[in-house]
Formats: sequence, structure tokens, C-alpha cells
Amino acid sequence: MAGRIPQHFIDDLLARVNIIDVLDGRVQKLKRTGKNYSGLCPFHKEKTPSFTANQEKQFYYCFGCGAGGNALGFLMEYENLNFPEAVEELAKSAGMDVPKDDSPQQREKDQRLSKLYDLLSQSDQFYQEQLRSSEHRGDAVNYLKARGLTGQIAKAFGIGFAPSGWDNLLNHLGQSADQRNLLEEAGLLIHNEERDSRYDRFRNRIMFPIRDQRGRTIGFGGRVLGDDKPKYLNSPETPTFHKSRELYGLYEARKHNNKLDRLIIVEGYMDVVGLAQYGIHYAVATLGTATTAQHLERLFKLVPEVIFCFDGDSAGREAALRALKTTLPVIEDGKEARFLFLPEGEDPDSLVRQEGAEAFSERLSSSLPLSEFFFKSYSENADLDSMDGRARFSTEVLPAINSMKPSLLQQMMLDRICDLTHLSLEQIQTTVNFHQAVQPQTSSSTNASAPAADSNDNSPGYYDDYQPAEPDYPDYAVDFYESADAQPSNRPSYTNKKQGFSRRSGGNAPRNTELNFSQKLIALLLHYPQLAHEFQLPDGLEQSLDADLKILSQLVVYYKQHPKASLGQLVVDWREDEQLSNTIVSLYEISTSLEIHSEADAREYLTDAQTSLNRKALESEISTLQKKHSLSQEEKLLLVQKMQQLHQVKTTSKA
Ligand code: UTP
Ligand code: MN
Repeated sequence: MAGRIPQHFIDDLLARVNIIDVLDGRVQKLKRTGKNYSGLCPFHKEKTPSFTANQEKQFYYCFGCGAGGNALGFLMEYENLNFPEAVEELAKSAGMDVPKDDSPQQREKDQRLSKLYDLLSQSDQFYQEQLRSSEHRGDAVNYLKARGLTGQIAKAFGIGFAPSGWDNLLNHLGQSADQRNLLEEAGLLIHNEERDSRYDRFRNRIMFPIRDQRGRTIGFGGRVLGDDKPKYLNSPETPTFHKSRELYGLYEARKHNNKLDRLIIVEGYMDVVGLAQYGIHYAVATLGTATTAQHLERLFKLVPEVIFCFDGDSAGREAALRALKTTLPVIEDGKEARFLFLPEGEDPDSLVRQEGAEAFSERLSSSLPLSEFFFKSYSENADLDSMDGRARFSTEVLPAINSMKPSLLQQMMLDRICDLTHLSLEQIQTTVNFHQAVQPQTSSSTNASAPAADSNDNSPGYYDDYQPAEPDYPDYAVDFYESADAQPSNRPSYTNKKQGFSRRSGGNAPRNTELNFSQKLIALLLHYPQLAHEFQLPDGLEQSLDADLKILSQLVVYYKQHPKASLGQLVVDWREDEQLSNTIVSLYEISTSLEIHSEADAREYLTDAQTSLNRKALESEISTLQKKHSLSQEEKLLLVQKMQQLHQVKTTSKA
């Protein structure tokens, strides 16, 4: 495995290969049509060609599904490769040798990682073997039978069994101290510090291997056979396993059909497996976490339609609302999100077993489109007959709409809001600084005849000369904490406004663009990642999380886990999330103008920022409470508490 590949090599490689050669043999019916080539898109089902490639610009783009990028992006997507692998593959075809970072540290890191994968795979085999042949397999087999699982489906998902006992896996794979260390790093053994001994994490559990896009086992979920707690135990975050990114069942779904039309997001392992057994092979589950934007961006790259599936109870409705808020900034024209609510007390597994696949599919077809669910949930408790009610409704609904990418859907939803509130678009614009939706977009991204962003252009090299477009936000430089009274404007970062299809070449870059508050913090952390662990984004900012603040919060989490990560590493790790990594890289570039030159200065800045964020969070919590019609006793107490805290913060920050 290669370490970091030098940029000049990637540039050189891309200059030497011809994307048409790469597409040839992989894209059906590829032929020249004037300046461009066209063919049948390999990334979605189609009968008439909407896939195009441009030799001069060395890019491909599909008008049908929006896939697009350069030769490397194509290989990554088509062959399921990661970035270094795609470089390797492309270099091979061009007869070039990839220069390796042969530093001993890099080599050791690579070796360690591949050992981790290796051990995970061996553990996977071990657990599956135990289900077939261990002397205690009876209980496990009976359990699976009782739940109605066929052997065939268990095999397709690699379901296994961790027998009871503290050292089954330990004895099987932990021969040397090094092996035991690795097993612990892979999340399979737990270290007892007091006794300095290790034991199996998964005991007496049905094992669900979690696989990455390429089918490598990266972690496990384990279910108890009985009623013990916790019901499910999941692998912890490890170098191979990141919950906010991975989805259970995605590999299996794509393996079953690599041209999927839709995916369902369900809650549990058994839901994925149960649905697959009944022929619905396109369900994935988050791993005990809420759906993240990263999850969604990944899914929308694969399919145009994602259906969330929720329990019909109040927890389910809450989760649905959270999912809605996560989806709004991600959704774009051509993509659809839907919401399905199941009868109370049922989950997809129980329901499909009860009523069969056909009835379940019917439920899927009649699920609520995002916009319907949006208006249903926001207007449920609103009094749209009174002026005050409509005003209140507007203040809730508009920031949410404003968090969306400019799109037809956004426009239509906005129209609907105008209808409901009796406000004109202009009135909304003046009250909420509604920049994106109201101003006609001049960029090619709304022009149907021009291709949109190169969504698969993942090579770090392509960010190098990327210059963000001139920001068109009048209040762009207003610091977050100074605009406390303004509506939270969830505008996405300017990097959304990527244009065209070609490699961007410098020009009108606002090198001296003033960074806003969150962007400054992001820039600062990019230069001083080691400070991340001294920083904590306070709770209570959910209402005002603009796009940049969200990135900041993800960055803090990331650097806390990887305090030594280079920018390149970060981009590679976040490659799946195009918007995130683009934003990061362009901010990094701009931030060279940041006037902070020492760690001490940076720390001071960060401390100040922390204080204002804490203050802002308190203010926001207080205002939320104050806006409520009636407060419970507890809420009243909370309000007083928060006000006291705010007073304290204000006086100490003055001192
Ligand atoms: P549920 O409690 O809804 O269980 O958890 P389930 O999926 O219906 O499981 P069965 O049918 O009883 O076997 C849904 C998901 O939440 C996570 C798991 O990912 C689970 O699949 N979870 C649940 C945990 O991570 N830990 C737990 O203790 C419980
Ligand atoms: Mn269940």
C-alpha cells in the first residue's frame, strides 16, 4: 500500500492518460458524438445514453444520475477502489510506477492497518465457523430459527456466533502480544487495566459482521440470545470502523444489485436481514446512531431515492424530524427522500414477516415525500388562521428551508410557505435574508443544459487550484456572535457554488475574503489540530447551526480522534463527503491570510471563541424557553439557571 502520493505525480498521471481509454470497455455503447463521447451510464439503469465524456476536459458526467468526475473518480466508483488504489490502477495502465512514501513510519502504519483488516476477517471467519460447529452452537441456531432466519440469508450476511466464555477469540487469534494489541485496537478484545489482562468483547452473542463498500469486515454488531442488556453491542470506533460513515447492509445490497434505484434506511440489523429474506434487498441500517449527512450523501451518490423507515411511536416521530433536518441541506434536484411510518409496535422485520413483501412494498410506495412530511410536521401545531400563528410558523419554517441547497424543490416549498403565511416572496426575503432561493442562480448548476458539479472528483489534486466564487452574501463577514438577533441563516458554504465541469483555474478568487466566525475557527484548527481537544462546541446551538458551524463541529470531533492527521489525511478520510472536503481545502487556502502565527495566539483566540459560543448557546436556550407558551416547573427552574449562568459568563468575560 502506498502512503501519501505526491501531488506532482497525480498531475502527471492525469495529464498522460486519456479518460476515453479508461471508459472504453467499461461504458457500454461508448461512441463519439461531435466533441463529446456518449454511452450508457454504468452507475444507474438506463436504456438511452445520458452518460457523456469530454476528451479535452478529461471529465465524464451523467445527466441521468449526476455522477461525474475525472479518470480517477471514475475508477474509484466503477471498480470500488479507494483513492490510492485508483492511482495505482491508473498508473499501471499508463505504465508508470507510483512513487511510494517509503518512510518507516508510513510503512509501519500501512502494515498495521492491513493487519487489522486481516484480523477482522479472521475473526469474522471464526464467528461463522462457531455457528456451524462449536459445541454450544445449539442455542444460537435455535435462536436464529425461532426468529425465522433461513440458513441461506444467514450465510449471505455472514452471520456468526460468539460463544460464551471470556477467551474464545483471544485463544484463537491472540497468540502473541502484538496480535493481542491488534485485536484490542480492532475492538475485539477489551483491556482490563487493573489486572492488565484482555478478554473477548463479544460473548454469547449472534454476530453481524459490518462490511465496508469493498466487502472487507470492519466491525461487528452482536445481539444477545436472551433478554440481557445491552441487547446489541457494537464495535467501538476503530481505525477501520467509523459509525457516522458506515451503513450496515450497504455492501450486501450492492452485491445483490449494483444498479439500485432506491435504498431504505431502517433502524436495526435484523430489519435489514429480515427484509432481504423477503426479497427486499435494498435496506441499510445506521449503526445505533442517527443518520448523518455523510450517510445520506453517500447513499444519494448511489441511488436517486432514499426512504427513511420509522416506528410509529413518538420516538420514531422525533427521529424522523431529526432525519428531516439532516436531509434538507443534502437533498438536490433529481434526488428524493421519503418518510415511512410503521404501525406502532412494529419494525420492518416484524412487519414484513407478518404481512409479506408485497404489502411492505406498498407501504414504501405510499410513503410521504419529504416536502409533505415537512409541512405536516411544521404545521401540525401551528395556528395558520391567526396572524401571530402564521408569523411564528414562518420563523420556524424559514431557517429550515434556508438550509436547503438552491433547488426547484426549495422554490416550490417556499411558494407553499407564501401561500400558507400570506407573505410575498419579497417580504420573506427582507425578513430572513433569504439569499439563495430568491436570487436567480446564474451559475451553470441550475442550467439544465450544462453539467453540474463534478461529484466524483475526489483527488486532492483537484482542489489545489480551486478558488471559491465571489461570495454574494451581504452579511458574509458578520461574526456569528454579533448576529445573535438575526435569524440563523443556514446558508451553505460558498464552495457549493462550484461551477462547470472543468478543472477550475484561478482567477477571481477572493483571497482576502473575510472569514466568518465559524470559518475562522475552522481555519485555525486546520493549522493547529492539536488544539481541538481544548475546544468543545456547547450544546444548545442546534437551532443556529449554520453550515460552517456544522463543519466546525465535525472537525473538532475528527481532530479529537486524529490529533495528528494531516490535511491530506483529512481529505482522504472525508472524501466521501464532497462538500465537506471541498470546504475544508478552500478554507485552508484562504486561511493562509489568517493573522494568527503562533500556537499561543491560536489558543487565546480559541478560548475567546469558546466563551462567545457558550454565551450564544445560553442565549439561544434562554430564548427558546422564553418563546414557549407555558413553562413547566422544571423548565422555569432551568430558565433561571441558564440566566444565572449567562450572567456569570458575561461578568467573567468582562473581567
Ligand atoms: P431495537 O431495539 O429496535 O432492536 O434496536 P431491533 O432492531 O428490533 O432488534 P431485534 O429485532 O430485537 O433483534 C435497533 C438498533 O439499534 C441499535 C442496533 O443497531 C439495533 O439494531 N441498538 C439497539 C444498539 O446499538 N444497542 C442496543 O442495546 C439496542
Ligand atoms: Mn426487531
